[in-house]
Amino acid sequence: MARKKIALIGAGAIGGTMAHLCALKGLGDVVLYDVIDGLPQGKALDLLQSAPIENFDIEITGSTKYEDIAGADVCIVTAGIVRKPGMSRDDLLGTNAKILRQVAEGIKTYAPNAFVIAITNPLDAMVTLTKRATGFPKNRVVGQSGILDSSRYRTFIAQELKVSVASVSAVVLGGHGDDMVPVRSSCQVSGVPITKLISSQRLDEIEARVRNAGGEIISLLKTASAFYSPASAAIRMTQAYLMDKKEILPCAAYLEGEYGVHGYYFGVPVMIGAGGIEKVIEIELSPQEKKAFEDSLAHVKDLVQAMDRVLGAG
Ligand code: APR
Repeated sequence: MARKKIALIGAGAIGGTMAHLCALKGLGDVVLYDVIDGLPQGKALDLLQSAPIENFDIEITGSTKYEDIAGADVCIVTAGIVRKPGMSRDDLLGTNAKILRQVAEGIKTYAPNAFVIAITNPLDAMVTLTKRATGFPKNRVVGQSGILDSSRYRTFIAQELKVSVASVSAVVLGGHGDDMVPVRSSCQVSGVPITKLISSQRLDEIEARVRNAGGEIISLLKTASAFYSPASAAIRMTQAYLMDKKEILPCAAYLEGEYGVHGYYFGVPVMIGAGGIEKVIEIELSPQEKKAFEDSLAHVKDLVQAMDRVLGAG
């Protein structure tokens, strides 16, 4: 059986980390693509030289030519610029929209059957653009955001209670911005509702930290944004697809009526298997969470409109 091919469009911090994870997990052959000549080739060579130590046999190549992603089963897009301290994800819109338009063209031409995962920010707009510009069906274009945001929520809850992260289940829905929606009503520790274990005032603080978790990392790193955790999140999605796991994961999915949302990408739990996004799972929200969900949706709509203005202006 031929090995699967994973194309990583953008060989920066997240792209390089994803290549490493693909190798360690033996997920498939990796092509790192970037516009900076030498960067993807150098990272590929370095990773390849760890193969005898880590005992993996996959191929890792670096390229600045789209032809080299030909036939990829999965394309993961991180191409673009990152936030600097004080910037919001939305501040990246103009530059990254133009980059994503080119990237989508490359994917459409050379990997027309790929499952595409967008990571570039502002995520909800960039995944929308990826779907439009590739023309791929909604089950094959998805955004990485909710797994990471939910993982941040689980991490902080586990730290607070000094329990294993494996015992905490939590989900964050909505747009991948400062108004994302940590769903307190479904957060549990081994089946016990979180509200029985942590005061509502402390949960407010933890959820505020979840919303700003990306910004907190940028203010520490200063010249980069989070990369280990976004990389892990996208590789989890890749694994679910390539291994037909039917795993339920929060992702930015294109909604056509689910949650009352029509024609927008929005963070919701979905089932990922060999068919890509096979199903959107609807969970019940409290009235307060519904309100937060609506506010976040309004923001995503504004963002998509702003993107249309930017692209319309050339
Ligand atoms: N095609 C391919 N790659 C590109 C293009 C392009 N047109 N333009 C820029 N790049 C590359 C850059 O050369 C760089 O190597 O994208 C890479 C981005 O890498 P980093 O700057 O290290 O950013 P990273 O931390 O990987 O984040 C990428 O993901 O989470 C989001 O907000 C984050 O939008 C950002 C993206």
